[in-house]
Amino acid sequence: MPDSAPVQMVNVQVDGVWKQFPKGTRLIEACEQAGSYIPRYCYHKKLSSPGNCRMCLIEQGMPKMGPDRKPVLGDDGMPVINWMPRPQISCAQDVAEGMGVRTTSPLVEECRKGVMEFLLINHPLDCPICDQAGECRLQEFSVQYGNAESRFLENKVKKPKNVELGPRVTLDDERCILCSRCIRFCQEVAQDDVLGFIDRGSHTVLTAHPGKRLENNYSLNTVDICPVGALTSSDFRFKMRVWFLKETKSFCTSCATGCNTIIGTRENVIHRQTPRENDAVNSTWMCDFGRLNFDYLQSDKRLLEPKIYSGDKLVPTDWKTAITHAAAQLKHFNGWEIAIIASATMTNEELWLTSRLAQIMGVQFMDIIPRRGEGDDILLSEDRNPNTNGARLLGITQEPGAQLPRIAQAVASGQVKAVIALHENPFDAGISADHLSQLPAFVLMDILESPATACATALLPASGFAEKRGSMINRNGRLQRLNRAVRPPGSARDDWEILRDLIQEYSGQNGIYMIEEVFKQMSQSVAALAGLNLSKIGDLGVQVMQVAQSPSPAEPGKDEGNKPESEKAAT
Ligand code: SF4
Ligand code: FES
Repeated sequence: MPDSAPVQMVNVQVDGVWKQFPKGTRLIEACEQAGSYIPRYCYHKKLSSPGNCRMCLIEQGMPKMGPDRKPVLGDDGMPVINWMPRPQISCAQDVAEGMGVRTTSPLVEECRKGVMEFLLINHPLDCPICDQAGECRLQEFSVQYGNAESRFLENKVKKPKNVELGPRVTLDDERCILCSRCIRFCQEVAQDDVLGFIDRGSHTVLTAHPGKRLENNYSLNTVDICPVGALTSSDFRFKMRVWFLKETKSFCTSCATGCNTIIGTRENVIHRQTPRENDAVNSTWMCDFGRLNFDYLQSDKRLLEPKIYSGDKLVPTDWKTAITHAAAQLKHFNGWEIAIIASATMTNEELWLTSRLAQIMGVQFMDIIPRRGEGDDILLSEDRNPNTNGARLLGITQEPGAQLPRIAQAVASGQVKAVIALHENPFDAGISADHLSQLPAFVLMDILESPATACATALLPASGFAEKRGSMINRNGRLQRLNRAVRPPGSARDDWEILRDLIQEYSGQNGIYMIEEVFKQMSQSVAALAGLNLSKIGDLGVQVMQVAQSPSPAEPGKDEGNKPESEKAAT
C-alpha cells in the first residue's frame, strides 16, 4: 500500500476569496482555516454532528450550471455561484468543488441574533455565580452576536438545579441549551449511554437514564465540552474564577498514556487539570482518575525539609549537610553492597542521573517498582507508571520488577547494606520494615511521608510532577515534556538537582547547572534522543521509540459518526 495517497483539493469561495481545502474537510472547519470563525454550540470536531443548535448558519451557494451541464465561469475564471435562498448549517456538511460561503452577510448576522435570542429566552442570568463564566460560549457569543436587551416579558421556565448526575458532575438544567454534546460524548467516546433528553418543547431537560448515573471514568469531559455552565465539576465548583488561573501546559503522570493537560493554578495552588488536544496521544480527552489525581501534591504529608538520622532519631538539617551525610554513608560500601530502587514516576533526566550514580558507585542491584491497575481501551493504561519506557531506554531496567526479589533477598541476607530509594517505598519491593530499619544506610528521596520514612538515615524531600521540568516517554514511545506549574513546598527541591549534588559529593566530579545540560548528556549517549533538547520536544511531544501502538480514543468525527443524522440513516 502506498504511504499516503495524494490529497484531493477542492476550490471553495469563503467570503469572496477562493481557497483550496482537502476534500472531506467539514465546512465549519474550512471557514475557520480561512480565518472566518463560525460560532457553534452543538458541533465538536471529535463528535458526531447532529446539527441541532443552528448557531452555525451561513449563506451557501453551488456553481451555476450552464446548458452544457458545466459550471459557468466568471471573469476570474472561477465558477459563478448560485446562492441558495435559505441559510444552511455549516457543521454537518463537507466542502465541495465550486462551493461558495458567506459567513458575515446581513442575513447570517440576523440568523445568529435570532438563534441567540431563542437560546437566552430561558437561560438564567446567573453569570456572576456560574463556574463557566469566563469560558462560556453563550456569554462570549451573546457579546459578539446577541442583542443588548431582551424582548421576552414572560416568566422563564424553571428547571431542576444542582442535580448530582454522578459523583463528580453537577447539572444545572436551567443553563442547558440542549446541544447534546454530553450525550454524544458518553455514547461515542466513553461507551456509556447514560444521558438523554426527556420531555419535549420548552420543558425538555437533560437527565441520566432511569437507574443510571454519570459515573464512568470519563465523566468530567462532559464538563469540558459543555458550552455553557450546565455541567460543572463538583470538585472545582465555586472554588475559583477561571480568569484568575495561570495555565501551564503539561501532561498527566497517573498512567503510561500521558494525556496532555493544562494545569490551572493560582498563588502556587493547583485548582484543576483539564485535557489539552494532542491527536497523537489523547485526542481531546482524559480520564477522571488522572484529572483529579493532584491533591496529594498539596497534602499535609509532604516532606518539607531534609533530615538525617542523628542520635536515635531523624533531625531536620540543611541541604548541604544532608547531601554530605548521605554521600559519606554510601562511601562506606562497595557497589555490590548497595541497591537502588528507582521509580518509573521519575523523569528521564532524573533516571539518567540515577544511572550515572549507579555507574559511579558500581551498583549491581537496581530496578523500578512496577505499578499496575485496571486499564480500558479508551485511554487509561494498565501501567500506572508514566515513564516505564524511559526507565527501559535509559538502562535502569529491561524487565520492571524482575530484580526486586533478588534485592529483597540481598537485604535480608545482609549482602546489601545500603539502599537508595527514589520516589518509592522499599516495603513495596518486598523489603521488610525490620530489615530496612537495621540497614546502616538508607537514603530516601521522596515527596510524601510513608511508613518507610522513619527508617531513613538521610531523607531528601523532592518535587512532584507539577513542580518540576523534565521529560518522560509514554506507552506509545512518545517523548513529552513536563513544565513547572507550581513551586515545591518548604525546602523540597527539584529531584535532578538532588541527584546531581549527590553525584558531585560522592565523586567530586564537576556539577551541571541546568536541566538542559542533563538532557544534552542523555541525547549524546542515547541514540533515540539524538539531536533533541527540551525545547525541541515542544508542546505535543516527539516520537522516539517504536512500540506497539495502543488504540486511540474513539474519534467519530473522522468517520461515520460525523455524518449528519439524515446521511447516517441513508447509509
Ligand atoms: Fe449541551 Fe451542556 Fe446541555 Fe449537555 S448540559 S446538552 S453539553 S448545554
Ligand atoms: Fe449546532 Fe451547527 S453547530 S447546528
